Amino acid sequence: MRKVIGLFPTPFMMTEGLLDAAMVDELRQRALSGQKEDNAGTGLLSHTEMIDPREEELFVDIARIVAPELDKFGELLFGDRLDWTVKEMWMNVLELGGSQFMHSHANSFVSGIVYLSEPHPSTRTVFMRNAGGNDFVFKHDAADEAVGQFNADRWIVPEVKPGDLVLYPSYLLHGVPPNRGERRFSLAMNAIPDRLKSFDYEIRFSR
Ligand SMILES: [Fe+2]
Repeated sequence: MRKVIGLFPTPFMMTEGLLDAAMVDELRQRALSGQKEDNAGTGLLSHTEMIDPREEELFVDIARIVAPELDKFGELLFGDRLDWTVKEMWMNVLELGGSQFMHSHANSFVSGIVYLSEPHPSTRTVFMRNAGGNDFVFKHDAADEAVGQFNADRWIVPEVKPGDLVLYPSYLLHGVPPNRGERRFSLAMNAIPDRLKSFDYEIRFSR
């Protein structure tokens, strides 16, 4: 009997329909009316200012709705029910032709995206396997190479609907390829637990 075990998998969680249509609409309006900053790499991608979710009622509500999802995902990551806080949120507006470079989120453990429009298939968020450190990398790049979970370099988020949430570990590289469709709206967030324990000491995070 042959058995294959996928060692050390990475959790990635999707929650469909987390925000209702009215809330998605309100966020889109807020994304367009708020103060915006062009992305350093392209004028076709803009971000709102960083939003402290304690300071605006709309985002207090979202943080409350996201909380149980965050607790569940945190439990997958660290094996315990920790007290999670969404420390910042911001929104992204991606115009036709715009893209977002591969990046990861520093000073955060769990990051999330709530889709505020149905992304054109060209702009599904792409997650990359770690691109390597100082080690040499060998791979078999042949035309007929079969790509599967053990040799793939990237993974593309499947079709999502407005209001859907995805959560992923903040260290994962991700980006958005060039938009060949309508304006794309998303809400992004970073979250931290209150503490991480190591036997007789704890690392604590506070504001
Ligand atoms: Fe990101």
